[in-house]
Amino acid sequence: MPSSSVDIAHEQDVEHRLFSRIACDLTDKGYSVIPNALPGLLSEQLFGQIQSLHSHDFSEAGVGRSHDQTLNRFVRRDAIRWIEGDTLPEKHWLDWSGRLQTYLNRHLFLGLFSYESHFSHYRPGDFYRKHLDAFRGQTNRRLSTVAYLNPGWMPDDDGELVLFSEKGEGEILRITPAYGTLAIFLSETFPHEVLPTNRHRYSIAGWFRVNGSINDQLDPPA
Ligand code: OGA
Ligand code: MN
Repeated sequence: MPSSSVDIAHEQDVEHRLFSRIACDLTDKGYSVIPNALPGLLSEQLFGQIQSLHSHDFSEAGVGRSHDQTLNRFVRRDAIRWIEGDTLPEKHWLDWSGRLQTYLNRHLFLGLFSYESHFSHYRPGDFYRKHLDAFRGQTNRRLSTVAYLNPGWMPDDDGELVLFSEKGEGEILRITPAYGTLAIFLSETFPHEVLPTNRHRYSIAGWFRVNGSINDQLDPPA
């Protein structure tokens, strides 16, 4: 906990530099991957919540509008739990992503309007095949975020997130799901894939969305 105004000013400065690095990366490349990006206290709180959750607190993830669970299981195997802001760690997470949203809107004029996110749990053997988080014109997801909460991830644990080039052929990079790492990329641009993991693997996947309201009807998040 910051104990003085000097500490608070320092934390704001660290956050500002992180957000500015993300904004620069997004402008230059359309994606940003930063190890140890999450503030220490926030990671601790979120990790604490994950440790307190049981498998029945998660539900099998779906794919797009498909209700065919057989197809779903072929594409993705993770179990998810939506973040609603019901606990202190969730509130802090939503505050933090809200500040990132404000920063990116001010600096990149993205017009981000809302944020939705969920915890993901990949059990050993689980994966998520190559996919896009948004198809042009079909959803209002603009920016995907993935934050990782796995202490001591080893190369043999596998489970990397692979980011592909826009056309989906070339691999751009492999991201180790290490504790505190944050990956952000344009949702409509980068296909990506979660390789089968050898270990229980926890992440928070989220999406900044633009306002999809039509005729004054409010566009509800999620
Ligand atoms: C997703 C996703 C990546 C990850 O949930 O859409 O791509 O590394 N997650 O957990
Ligand atoms: Mn995805």
